[in-house]
Amino acid sequence: MLSPESAATVRATLPVVAGAIQDITARFYETMFADNPELLRDLFNRGNQANGEQRVALAGSIAAYATALVERPGELPSTMLSRIANKHASLGVTEEQYAIVHKYLFGAIGEVLGDVVTPEIAQAWDEVYWHMAETLIGLERDLYRRAGQGWTPATVIERREETANTVSFLLRPERPMPALPGQYVSVRVTLPDGARQIRQYSLSNAPERGDWRITVKRVRGEGAPEGEVSTWLHANVKAGDVLAVSAPFGDLTLPEGDGPLLLASAGIGVTPVLSMLDHLVVTGSDRRVVVVHADRSPDAHVHREELANLVAALPGATLHRWYEDLGGHAGDPAVSVGWADLSAIDLTEGVVACLCGPLPFMRAARAQLIERGVPASAIHYEVFGPDLWIAAA
Ligand SMILES: Cc1cc2nc3c(=O)[nH]c(=O)nc-3n(C[C@H](O)[C@H](O)[C@H](O)COP(=O)(O)OP(=O)(O)OC[C@H]3O[C@@H](n4cnc5c(N)ncnc54)[C@H](O)[C@@H]3O)c2cc1C
Ligand code: HEM
Repeated sequence: MLSPESAATVRATLPVVAGAIQDITARFYETMFADNPELLRDLFNRGNQANGEQRVALAGSIAAYATALVERPGELPSTMLSRIANKHASLGVTEEQYAIVHKYLFGAIGEVLGDVVTPEIAQAWDEVYWHMAETLIGLERDLYRRAGQGWTPATVIERREETANTVSFLLRPERPMPALPGQYVSVRVTLPDGARQIRQYSLSNAPERGDWRITVKRVRGEGAPEGEVSTWLHANVKAGDVLAVSAPFGDLTLPEGDGPLLLASAGIGVTPVLSMLDHLVVTGSDRRVVVVHADRSPDAHVHREELANLVAALPGATLHRWYEDLGGHAGDPAVSVGWADLSAIDLTEGVVACLCGPLPFMRAARAQLIERGVPASAIHYEVFGPDLWIAAA
């Protein structure tokens, strides 16, 4: 809880800080990376820094947290905090690094807002920062205690070309680590210029299978630079190689219990859904599950047959597929053409939805579910990049 004086100051200055937060975070990263280049080289995703997406996520989260603190102090944005803590834990963020972020963030606030920042205002925002930081540090400590912190060698048992743009890797970590269906691991690779870049990949099989499978889509530049890590993994990694991986983290996990589910994915977003379905198969579940998948074409749909086989193995599951282009599969009554449409899908009362795919797909799916009466609190999602929805969660 903030002191009453600080809460009043934060409330009064929220519009000016929120209005300048893009400039503040831009300056923050610029100065932090100038003094600590190893953070950009070996911890942050330099592609996201170059395209500016990470700034939006960080700025949005701080503004959302400050708003919650002053408007609804009894209910902090727990979904958002858990999402950030899981991401941080998968990257190995340490408690000490919060002081580094603090130093450059508050330096940037002073530079951007200048004389507006009286000692009283600085003090009030300091309280906000440490309130959020301490909450995150506590969550991350718990995650590390349960799952472990840092990097573990994992041997690549198998590499499989799945579609023109995707490969899967079966990984055997040196030590067993607990995982939940839907979680992801971070993979850290050393690139040709010596930078150690980290990316997250969802497990695409059930944790019970022992070896973990990840499925990696190669990110093509399309005008911008090629995706660094996905391109490197495609070009270099083969059976017998060893990758550095984190323990599994992530809060988009299979909802517990035996209630009805809607699992909706598009493109490579199918990976956590595969893990959840595989887990349901392994555990002999008869849960009611509606599976929706959208893709560009059947040929681009990675693990297409596997998805159909998993659904067929579950007595309570049905599958709906949409392809923008049916290609050679025109006439197949089991698939539809166009964008996924959830408006007429058979939904059971009390359904919990998990969405994973590009933001436009998830926005449309969420809107259709809300229109059909599914409460927002029953709709969970994962973004395969900086979470630009995070402040709205
Ligand atoms: C929780 C989670 C789970 C995920 N699960 C999976 C999964 O199962 N499978 C999967 O394939 N992926 C998954 N991802 C995505 C994955 O982590 C990577 O983001 C993805 O592989 C792209 O990484 P990259 O290094 O190839 O691209 P990056 O190098 O990170 O590039 C990202 C984007 O930035 C652009 N960019 C780079 N530099 C610039 C520049 N200078 N100017 C403008 N634009 C630029 C690139 O063109 C590209 O579009 C997941 C992500 C998250 C967060
Ligand atoms: C109160 C302080 C902090 C806040 C509010 C914050 C907020 C965030 C948010 C919102 C994200 C995006 C999460 C997502 O996309 O799912 C993120 C990611 C990240 N954070 Fe933090 N963070 C804080 C502290 C730190 C610290 C101390 C470090 C370590 C130096 C750090 C390193 C990272 C990294 C490396 C990422 C991934 C970004 C990328 O893709 O490059 N953060 N953080």
